Parts: sequence; C-alpha cells; structure tokens
Amino acid sequence: MASANRRPASVRGVERLTGRPEWSLLTASRSPQTLAEMFATDPGRAQRFSLTAGDLLVDYSKQLVNDQTMAALVALADAVGVERRRDEMFDGAPINVTEQRAVLHTALRAPPQETITVDGVDIVAEVHAVLTAMSAFAEDVRVTARFRSIVNIGIGGSDLGPAMATEALWACADHALDVSFVSNVDGADIARVLERCDPASTLFIVSSKTFTTIETMTNARTARDWLVDALGTEAVADHFVAVSTNLDAVRAFGIHTVFGFWDWVGGRYSLASSIGLSLMIAIGADNFAAMLQGMRVIDDHFRTEPLVRNVPVILGMIGIWNTSVLGAPTKAVIPYARELARFPAYLQQLDMESNGKMVRLDGTDVEVATGPIIWGEPGTNGQHAFFQLLHQGTHLVPVDLIGFARPNHNLAGHHDLLFANLLAQAQALAFGRTDSPSPHRSFPGNRPSTIIVAERLTPSTLGQLIALYEHIVFVQGVVWGINSFDQWGVELGKQLAQTIAAELTGDHRSGSHDASTSALIDWYRSRRVGHR
Ligand code: F6P
Repeated sequence: MASANRRPASVRGVERLTGRPEWSLLTASRSPQTLAEMFATDPGRAQRFSLTAGDLLVDYSKQLVNDQTMAALVALADAVGVERRRDEMFDGAPINVTEQRAVLHTALRAPPQETITVDGVDIVAEVHAVLTAMSAFAEDVRVTARFRSIVNIGIGGSDLGPAMATEALWACADHALDVSFVSNVDGADIARVLERCDPASTLFIVSSKTFTTIETMTNARTARDWLVDALGTEAVADHFVAVSTNLDAVRAFGIHTVFGFWDWVGGRYSLASSIGLSLMIAIGADNFAAMLQGMRVIDDHFRTEPLVRNVPVILGMIGIWNTSVLGAPTKAVIPYARELARFPAYLQQLDMESNGKMVRLDGTDVEVATGPIIWGEPGTNGQHAFFQLLHQGTHLVPVDLIGFARPNHNLAGHHDLLFANLLAQAQALAFGRTDSPSPHRSFPGNRPSTIIVAERLTPSTLGQLIALYEHIVFVQGVVWGINSFDQWGVELGKQLAQTIAAELTGDHRSGSHDASTSALIDWYRSRRVGHR
C-alpha cells in the first residue's frame, strides 16, 4: 500500500552532479580504444553488454562505453538515488514538485489487486472502473457498427500516444472503422478529415486533460458546428464523447459522456488512461489490456531488477554519458517497422517535454547538457535521407535501432531485407570502412548505437517499448536533478499567441511588440482573408 501524502525525501537537497566522485570516475573512464578495437580485444563484449527486459533484447555493446564507464554509470545512478526516487514515484509521493502532484502513470497499468492511495482514495480501483467503462463503450462501438468514422480531437499527449499506437497496432485493428486524429489548429487538419466523414456515422472523441487547450477547443467547436449543421443540436449527445479531468468544462461544452482521468497522469504519460479510448476502439479492449500488461512487465522489471541489469537504468545512464559527457546534442530513433512511423514523434514529446529543462529541482542551473533532441524516421527510409550525415558528418549522433524478428504481414521477400538493413547500419556506424584510398569513400566508424529487438510488434511489445522509454526519461531526470513532469516552457508562446491573435483580427493594437513582430502583424493584417 502506498500513500501520496509525503514530501519526497530526494527533493530536500540537490547535490551538485559534477562534484560527485562518481562523476569524476565517469569522465575519467573515456576509452582511448575505438569500438573496433574494443570488439577485437574483448570477445565477451557483445554478450556482456546485452540485457533482456520482458520480451525485449537490448544490445548496447556498440555504445562508446567500456567496463569502467558502465561501472561508473551504475555507481552514479546509485549515488543520485535513482532507486529511491523510483520508489517514491511508484508509491505516489508528489515528485512533480512545481505542481505538487504525484506522478502515477504506472498506476494506470497496475493489476486490480494492487492498492495505491492518493489523498485517501484507492486510485487503482478508480483506474479499473474507468477501464471497465471504456471497454464497454469501445466494444459497443465495435459490435453495433453505429459509427464508421472515429475522430480523436486532441493535441500533444492527447494525440501523439493514441495516434502513434493506432498506427503501430494497425495489424490488430478493425479495418472497417476509420480512426483519424485531428490535432493542429491549422484548419487544414480537420478539413481533410471531415471531408471523408458522414455526420450520421461519425463519433468525435474530444481528448483534453484540461479541456482548455486552444487547438483542441477550436477543432471541437468546428466539429460540433459541422455536426449540428447536418443533424441538429440533439445529435451532439450521441456523436460526441470526451476524455478529460475537467468534467465541468466538458458539460458546459454540451457533452454528456465523459471518461475521466486524474491530475497525477501527465499528458505525455497518458496513453494508458482514457486518453487511449480511440486506440481501444480501433484494436479492441483485449488488445488494449495486452498493451497495459506489456507496460506492467517493464514497470516490474524497472522496480525489481538490480541497477546493473535494469534496462531502463542502463539505457538511461548511457544517455547521460552520450549527452552530458560525450556532448551529443541529439539522439536518433530509427524503428525498422513502418508501423512505428510515429514513434519518434511520440518520443519527442515524452523526452523533450520531460527533460528539456535548464533548472534543477531547487531552482539552480543545471551543470551539464540535459535532455537530447529526439528525432527519427522509420528505417529503411531514413537511410536514404539523413544517414549520410550519421556515417560521414561531423556530429556525434547516438542512434537507437528498433526491430522485430517477424513482420505483421505475410509478403515474401521484405522482412529479411529490412532486418539485414538494421544490422548493417549498426555495423557500419560502429566499424566504418577505412580501406578506401579516397577520403570521400571512407567511413570513420566509432559511432554509437543501441539495438532493441523483440520477436514481433504486438500490443504487449509496444507497451513494453513505451514503458521502457518512459523509465529511461525518468532515470535521466533524476540524474540531472530536474523535474521531468512539468512543462512550463510551453506556456509563454501560448500566452503571446492569444494576444497576437486578437491583434491580427481586431482593432486593438497593444503596441508592446518588438519591431519585427509589429511589422509582421501589419503585413498579415493587410493581407488576411476579410481585409478590406
Ligand atoms: O503542450 C503542452 C501540453 O500541456 C502537453 O503537456 C499536453 O499533452 C498537451 O498540451 C495537451 O493538453 P490537454 O490534454 O490538456 O489538452
């Protein structure tokens, strides 16, 4: 049993990272040997630097690490209290200190027999009550076939997770249903979706934790107008449901069916909550449950494995090494699975909104580079676009390569080639080719990558991948001493956009802008639709 009503012990004092003896050990561990030399002199390296977590096999032997580096990384994880912080998170301590909130996305996949209390309430029971209501609704939609088009309206965490997973699990989806995602305030987004929908058979799911996000509310109003135009106001109750923590705002909008969630679930960690309703409708409640089960497998691994065999810890610490010691500003994530096309975008929010921070928990500046810039495209497409830079460019770009032994199709002649490319790219990055007389045709190698593979992309393995990256981000946030669970950095732009939007359309000019912004406001006003 856990309680959320404690102040997390680890927040009281944040020690300087670079002053720790483990940091000195780490920076001193940099190997003079190249990857080629380390592999040549150490036949056990591949095996020693590979781990499993659930169904995932992780080979980090092509990272620029040696035994001293790994020992120092594990010692550092220990010294900064990764395990203590992890336990605080799982127990529901308010580790999101700037918002005084618990961080309990792991409770979304907790088994029903577990008890976690927040403010005296058993939240696991609440989670399962919402899951039951979602399952009943999703199965009704699937069985009765009263809707052909399902449109999720949401942005950020209320879009990226379900959109990514619906594409990833296309093989298990009901293809008679057209599940679309509208996120952008750009009207082109919803216009292209509405064009292919019939109002009589369209269900809108308005997904917004706060139910105030301007993009989502603008799109939701446009959808409501479109529906009311065709079917009248009474249709809103049947054709709209909401997913939100803000029940009053949902009702004020005119939606009666709402699936709730809780303020201890961060937007970017919310796929396993009712934010996953569109996904559940697409793939069915059993497959959704299998995804939750997969997440739980990694939660259990993260919670119980010792640091040296703990995959989120090891990969998180290697990320610290690459970003904060070796100075790699970015990390590429390349899934060798077309279905994971949106996985890099999903990880961008997960990682960059969590760890793109420059002040620590106590308000002091960080001492080293923090969260990397995450980017990527599916292999093999990326190979024909930006891999040139990865192999011969001047930047150090660590790469995660994700692949599967079996495809979710039965077309001959594709999958072996796909997987061969994954292995070939990691090999080329690590070992290069230096036998060419031409410098233009030489590959220096010694470029780091991690390979993450599973037998097949299933709801369970997708859940495992998601939880793995969530916990990697967590580990890194602990080491950097930052709050991975707020996102104040998105606020300023939102506020300025509200002011500017009023000035683009109205008579009032605030006059408080810089000369560049003022001139561009004038330029737009003189050209915008409706200008006389
Ligand atoms: O971009 C900021 C943010 O608050 C994200 O953290 C969140 O996922 C997204 O906006 C959407 O928020 P909401 O679900 O409240 O509409």
